[in-house]
Amino acid sequence: MHVLVTGGTGALGRQVVKRLIDAGHRARILSRRPAESEPAARGEWVQGDLVTGAGLELAVKDIDAVVHAASDALSPRKYKATDVLGTRRLLAMAREAGVRHMVYVSIVGMEGVPYPYYKSKLAAEEVMRENIVPWSILRATQFHTLMDIFLDAMSKLPGLATVPFRWQFQPVDTTDVAERLVQVVTAEPAGTLPDFGGPEVRDFKSLATSWLKVRKPNKRLINLWLPFKFSHAWADGRLLCPDHRDGTITFEQYLARRYPAQA
Ligand SMILES: NC(=O)c1ccc[n+]([C@@H]2O[C@H](COP(=O)([O-])OP(=O)(O)OC[C@H]3O[C@@H](n4cnc5c(N)ncnc54)[C@H](OP(=O)(O)O)[C@@H]3O)[C@@H](O)[C@H]2O)c1
Repeated sequence: MHVLVTGGTGALGRQVVKRLIDAGHRARILSRRPAESEPAARGEWVQGDLVTGAGLELAVKDIDAVVHAASDALSPRKYKATDVLGTRRLLAMAREAGVRHMVYVSIVGMEGVPYPYYKSKLAAEEVMRENIVPWSILRATQFHTLMDIFLDAMSKLPGLATVPFRWQFQPVDTTDVAERLVQVVTAEPAGTLPDFGGPEVRDFKSLATSWLKVRKPNKRLINLWLPFKFSHAWADGRLLCPDHRDGTITFEQYLARRYPAQA
């Protein structure tokens, strides 16, 4: 099968590309950057941009199915342009090209959580459900890589890490999600799939304690109170799917793999 992976340079997408190729499929990466930026990348490479539409026609040419894992969570001003309008643009091109299946990667439990990024992800799911191309949606819980990004950002003050202790997560490894996505994209379109969660529900204090031991052992951990509705929703466990403990890799196993010298 010939599969386009948007976001094929990202934390999740690169794992999907690797697994597709290892399983004998052909994989094509869509990236805003030129191929020379990642000389070691496996698979074909098309430079393009969901926001401008550049390169998308070429990206979907001769493609059987798409794993759509591109998103721009760090650029609030581009949420809508990337996830909502970009998804619509990609679907239109994919339909023209005769693509048979598009899989959208989304997030568990976003409904009713007032967080701007989720608004765009929910709107993008609705665009997928218009059935422009036969579709599947896989919602996952937060990735270990995201915990790493959050905790690094929250431990920049000298001597301190300030972390909302009560936030709850069910972190999942990108390798586990990628394995599931390869099963999904190589099967028939299936609509909204069951949630995909990590093996453990953890509060952020416990995740931060494990992370600091490995990354910044001399920092003191203190609670951060955030007066935002999304913060209460995260503390209430709205992002969890405890009935779906699909992932196999724990946060400590991720840390040992990612930072072998320190763990
Ligand atoms: N992170 C989480 O905890 C989590 C949890 C559940 C679901 N998800 C979903 O899983 C997906 C992947 O997340 P991730 O954490 O792997 O993301 P990531 O590491 O931030 O990677 C984002 C990818 O999107 C691409 N991208 C961004 N803007 C683009 C544009 N305008 N045109 C084309 N490509 C663009 C980037 O490619 P270039 O920079 O090479 O252009 C990059 O490969 C997202 O849809 C996210 O919402 C994430």
